[in-house]
Amino acid sequence: MTTVPTTKIFKENLFTGKVLLCSGGGSGICRAMTEAMVQHGATAVIFSRSKDKLEKAAKEMALKTGGEVFPVAGDVRNPKDVERVVEIAVEKYGRLDYLINGAAGNFLAAFDHLSYNAFKTVIEIDLLGTFNLTKAAAPHLKKSKGAIINVSATLHYTGTPFQQHAGAAKAAIDALTKHWAVELGPHGVRVNGIAPGPIKDTVGMEKLGPAFEHSVVPLQRMGDVQDVAQSTVFLFSEGASYITGIVLVVDGMSIFIMFCSGDH
Ligand code: COA
Repeated sequence: MTTVPTTKIFKENLFTGKVLLCSGGGSGICRAMTEAMVQHGATAVIFSRSKDKLEKAAKEMALKTGGEVFPVAGDVRNPKDVERVVEIAVEKYGRLDYLINGAAGNFLAAFDHLSYNAFKTVIEIDLLGTFNLTKAAAPHLKKSKGAIINVSATLHYTGTPFQQHAGAAKAAIDALTKHWAVELGPHGVRVNGIAPGPIKDTVGMEKLGPAFEHSVVPLQRMGDVQDVAQSTVFLFSEGASYITGIVLVVDGMSIFIMFCSGDH
């Protein structure tokens, strides 16, 4: 039986003096990714739309870790908002070392029920949001010789039903991971992806859960946010200093056997 990793795997203070910016860092998987970085010494700026939720998450994370987490509300779809959050992070903390592109929107919808605007909305949040924030952050990441993690998914590996909008966005994000690894590598910036499979107790699973009821996981348990958090610490650590352009799949090798009929 496999176990969920604890937070004591890596050296404490691994990221002391370093600054992380995480979109979507106020909840779910990205919150756990952020918290793990702060637990290892980083200071974090979290960015997403809901000001109240962000402020509460920042306070809770700071209390739990003893570190600093600063909330900035805004929309990854809006270039002015992403420029503002990067400016705030750099003005407040003097540098930017790590970026996690995690903000995402999703719902189950069959092709016949997916409107033009619904498809566009998810592409804009996931894909354009990832581009926008990276575009704004890149000059500072080049300065610090930092690193990026793009959060994608495994949906597009098999053409998961009712998930074409998210799958298309995540496939394109995986492509950006490789393109940016090539273009930013010469500047000392590593760019990797993490593709989580079904992770329990997250908004994603709440929304998509019913479709994954028939999944088979060889490791015999659902993913936990800590599985993704520890992978994040590894990919940002010096242990991964020769790793760029990969998408690390964190899914226990889940095999989706999805219920493909119904009225989503
Ligand atoms: N099924 C089909 N279409 C849906 C839908 C659903 N469950 N939910 C929203 N849409 C459509 C809307 O009808 C609208 O299209 P229309 O104008 O043709 O009617 C379009 O998507 C945009 O919806 P809207 O609510 O205006 O967008 P938003 O920007 O406020 O919200 C969402 C974006 C829809 C992705 C919203 O679910 C969200 O913000 N989620 C964030 C959290 C999240 O989903 N996390 C999951 C991580 S896996």
